[in-house]
Amino acid sequence: MSELVLTSKQGDIGIITVNNPPVNALSPAVAKALLQAVQAHVSDPSVRGLVLIGGGRTFIAGADIKEFAKVTTATRDFDTGIDPLLAALEDSPKPVVCAIHGTALGGGLETAMACHYRIATPDAHVGQPEVKIGLIPGAGGTQRLPRLAGVAKALDMCGGGEPIRATDALTCGILDSLAEGELLPAAIAYCQKQIAAGTPPRRTRDLHDKLGTPATNAPLFAGAREQAQKRSKHLIAPAKAIDAVEAATTLPFAEGCARERQLFLECLFSDQAKALIHVFLAEREVAKVPGIGPDTPRRPIRRAAVVGAGTMGGGIAMVYANAGIPVWLKDVDAAALERGLATIRKNYAHTVQKGKLTPQQMDERLARIEPTLSFERFAEADIIVEAVFENLALKKQVFAELDQVAHPEAILATNTSSLNIDAIAAATRRPHQVIGHHFFSPANVMKLLEIVRGKETSPSVIATSMELAKRLGKVGVLVGNGRAFVGNRMFEPYVREAQFLLEEGATIDQVDQALTEFGMAMGPLAVLDLAGLDIGWRMRQEHLHLAASSGRRPFVAEDKLCEHGQFGQKTGAGWYCYEAHRVGTPNPEAIQFVAEAARANGITPRQISPQEIVERTIFALINEGARILEEGIALRPGDIDIIYIYGYGFPAWRGGPMWYADTLGLATIYARICEFEKQHGATWSPAPLLRQLATAGRTFASLTEPSA
Ligand code: NAI
Repeated sequence: MSELVLTSKQGDIGIITVNNPPVNALSPAVAKALLQAVQAHVSDPSVRGLVLIGGGRTFIAGADIKEFAKVTTATRDFDTGIDPLLAALEDSPKPVVCAIHGTALGGGLETAMACHYRIATPDAHVGQPEVKIGLIPGAGGTQRLPRLAGVAKALDMCGGGEPIRATDALTCGILDSLAEGELLPAAIAYCQKQIAAGTPPRRTRDLHDKLGTPATNAPLFAGAREQAQKRSKHLIAPAKAIDAVEAATTLPFAEGCARERQLFLECLFSDQAKALIHVFLAEREVAKVPGIGPDTPRRPIRRAAVVGAGTMGGGIAMVYANAGIPVWLKDVDAAALERGLATIRKNYAHTVQKGKLTPQQMDERLARIEPTLSFERFAEADIIVEAVFENLALKKQVFAELDQVAHPEAILATNTSSLNIDAIAAATRRPHQVIGHHFFSPANVMKLLEIVRGKETSPSVIATSMELAKRLGKVGVLVGNGRAFVGNRMFEPYVREAQFLLEEGATIDQVDQALTEFGMAMGPLAVLDLAGLDIGWRMRQEHLHLAASSGRRPFVAEDKLCEHGQFGQKTGAGWYCYEAHRVGTPNPEAIQFVAEAARANGITPRQISPQEIVERTIFALINEGARILEEGIALRPGDIDIIYIYGYGFPAWRGGPMWYADTLGLATIYARICEFEKQHGATWSPAPLLRQLATAGRTFASLTEPSA
């Protein structure tokens, strides 16, 4: 018997333990070994009942997603080996009890549901999260779940993908019992009880009483479809999951399973599943940094301090408080500090109102944030994050002060969105302890953290930062210290093109709508209004020397808006006017400034198609991304994808800008960029790396493949 699965006996109960650490992923080899183990116990006359359990920290936490990736790229035939296993479990003439701890997700829950009974620890979770990687359950999950839990619950779980707690799973019928005390003895006792009762095993496929009637089901399916459309109108998997659950209510079990398989395969070979699987794997890959290993020392982070209680500083303090780390929050005067604290209180109160936090949790978190006007206790902080105005002279001054007061081992992080980390580090006597922690706005919500390594930043400070990101609930991506790093550097040509398109004749609505239709969470002009137009304006002032020397087509309308005090949402007007609500109407003054800019540049307005809007903006992202890769500012194309998905609302189902470029074909993109260069000049000169890859018929992804 393979070591992936262990078999043993306790009295007349045969025990099967999955032994595929760390998460007991259900690979084809595990499925095969499990099948052999089930068959061995079933044919052993001394065994009267079976218990299936996971070894280590969890039951089967899902299928091996790398296997799916191999299938979607067609390097392997599709055979997970799960079907014969589930048939053997369900067909067993002896009762089979599944014992769940940790998580039973995807193929794990499907395996559990093919057993006759399920018992779990109270802290376990179960779920069918396949839609999150563009798939649906493919091994009977959509057929067995409604039979156990009812149609509404199955629609929720298969269509939405969120796991549920064991207590909920017990209430809705997925579980039969919660284990008091140790799991294995409880499962054995449960199995013996079934043997003693002498009742035939309860097979999920034969249950019908929760499948409802056409009359009761119709509103459930209509509601689920409406919700899926509202939540994610671009996604195909949730709709197919709903279709599959519907099949459970209209077809006999075997036919329902066949229908599910057909829908599953339609998802598996879709571009969306390929993209979402890429995102899933890329998110795990970003944690790997060459030169940093398990031996690199990490520093304990017990206390933090934040300098600057503005938009970002306040949000960052919340991030620490939410992770249970006490934090001092400093600003220059009492008024600024109070403004910051008021915003923090308002944000927490809002979360309590939405029911996502209890008043007690809010109080605990607030108590972890200690306002201060002095550096008095900063020597106790293990990390200090600076979030003052984006001004190099000011930041240098703050770092020189921090160097005086901070503990010699403390990490000094800056939240700068564009300035040179080395220049800031040079203001201290410990540049090896200085690093960029670039949070995104709102810091307490956005999952991305760009971790910017300076030329002297030590491996230990990098390793601690990567680990800290996880603890703070963020996805940390290590980037190099180039101007504006990765995200904002790419954002610049993206929004530049959005604004040039306005000068050329597109309307504010047309630009934003073309990009939300493409799948961006918000249009570029609405994003600028949300973030504050003044940020870019200040950045342009900081980098005036660059703009002046580039000889590029000037862009003036946004600067004009800023000169008129129109910074976006926070001043009530920017590209849009905001009256009481966050949804705005195009700002007539902005339209006027754009028209003036067009006249000054000698541009005659024309009709612009949504396709051109998407190509001009998204290809600008891709071209800059290629330069960033070439310069080594980003480690991998997948890192850029993760940055854009978590920091800028790029649609995950398109895989991120670099993955999307690969799916379109780099030759196509290169050719189009060459056309843009002819039409619009040097800003569109293609990145050399893009040209090379396109000419060689290669992809960005090939850069990180072992053979590349
Ligand atoms: P903000 O203007 O909202 O807040 C800055 C705060 O720093 C103010 O409360 C100010 O009183 C305080 N401050 C100024 N000098 C100080 C000093 N010497 N000591 C203590 N406090 C001082 O600015 P915001 O938007 O929070 O930006 C802060 C930093 O974060 C900037 O470097 C910015 O580029 C960066 N950033 C901003 C993002 C955004 O979307 N707003 C996103 C990511 C980074």
